Amino acid sequence: MAKEDPMRYVCGHCGFSTVTRTGKCTSCGQWGTLVQAQAAAEGAKARAEVVSAVSVVPPRRVTSGIPELDRVLGGGLVPGGVVLIGGQPGIGKSTLLLQAGGLVASMGTPVLYISGEESSAQVALRASRLGVVSENLLLYCGNNLEDALSNVTGSQNAGLFILDSVQAVKAPGETGWPGTPNQVRAVAQLSVDVARAANVPAVLVGHITKDGRLAGPMLLEHMVDAVLTFSGEGYSSYRMLRAIKNRYGNTDELGVFEMKENGLAAVEDKSGLYWNRADAGVSGVAMTVAMEGSTPLIAEVQTLASPTAFPYPKRTSRGIELNRFQLLTAVLEKRSGIPCGGHDLYLNVAGGLSIQDPSADLAACAALASALQDRPLRGGCCYLGEVGLAGEVRPVVRLAARLKEAERLGFKHAVVSEKERDESICARLDVARVNSLSDALKIGGILT
Ligand code: TYD
Ligand code: MG
Repeated sequence: MAKEDPMRYVCGHCGFSTVTRTGKCTSCGQWGTLVQAQAAAEGAKARAEVVSAVSVVPPRRVTSGIPELDRVLGGGLVPGGVVLIGGQPGIGKSTLLLQAGGLVASMGTPVLYISGEESSAQVALRASRLGVVSENLLLYCGNNLEDALSNVTGSQNAGLFILDSVQAVKAPGETGWPGTPNQVRAVAQLSVDVARAANVPAVLVGHITKDGRLAGPMLLEHMVDAVLTFSGEGYSSYRMLRAIKNRYGNTDELGVFEMKENGLAAVEDKSGLYWNRADAGVSGVAMTVAMEGSTPLIAEVQTLASPTAFPYPKRTSRGIELNRFQLLTAVLEKRSGIPCGGHDLYLNVAGGLSIQDPSADLAACAALASALQDRPLRGGCCYLGEVGLAGEVRPVVRLAARLKEAERLGFKHAVVSEKERDESICARLDVARVNSLSDALKIGGILT
């Protein structure tokens, strides 16, 4: 007689499978997440349907009402697509989405805003404060997701739904408190199913844990089409919106908002965030243009050199990787003959900007040389280039966009690599092309 398969239990958080039912998953350590595999399989079977092949067409886009949000999404929301926005409590997720929902509603599309966390009076008050009151903005305040979503499939026929948040509502047939991994997974799955079936876009809010991860099962991020993070420093009113996953667009766009009295306003002049022009004429400061996705940002590289009292001089870097900074120090000393060994060196990119690509090398070297010689660099100039170990200056990506931004903000000169292609050079800036770091420092007035 064939041996019967033993009953298996699957963890809703990490997918671990076991034959022993335990309260705590032995793989991920979550409590109460194991469910019978058979039940899980039946759930999946009930949803399965025959899918026929379709021809390839680009996704249709609909606006979220906020152009800055549309840009981060790669051109807007996609009908049937689900976006998840994560962020710290109080950062402004509900504000952003109520504003977006209200603006879409005022354009004539019914929008369903599901709030599991606030009462309808609170949401209505906020909507009026944000100036987005519209009869097309439908509020559902409660925690029964199935009831709430009947407004998408039923007579109300909402053309967009916003769920605030996946941790605050309950899915049908799932036991446990809202916010437990199994509930969050079921809530996300139902939201995805309804969005796909009704072919409407959906935006879900997700809380994040103390260590910055989205709260809920690990597969939450896999279930949705795009994951955005909304973040900001506690002391600042600026908020950054970034995509960390996007099935319909690239993930390196940056959206910047300012939290004001009446909601979030997009910040158009992003370079102004990181540059205050106050340091012109000070030694140790060089300007460059960094790219955040497709957005060029003026960045100010500041350095300080102070004679060291220790046998091993100190090197500290913020905004440019420390190893890179140390390498550039060595190149500056060896290839341009500026001694660094007797100084503690500090580097900081103003405004907390972090520059990942090597395009800021030349500015970092110029700033360091200026600090070490205690002589300011020539004013109104930006430095754009990667510096190699031989002291050569190499081209950067998207030079034309960077130079355009520099020109827009009033720079008069730029120093770039000699190897840059002609067509990427901006006509109205005085662009100097250099072969080596030493040549760049001569133009900057540091070397003679
Ligand atoms: P909220 O959207 O509730 O944050 P989240 O949903 O991410 O928890 O925003 C909360 C903060 O935003 C709150 O502390 C007050 C502030 N705020 C403003 O400054 N201006 C406004 O117009 C609104 C609606 C909120
Ligand atoms: Mg909220």
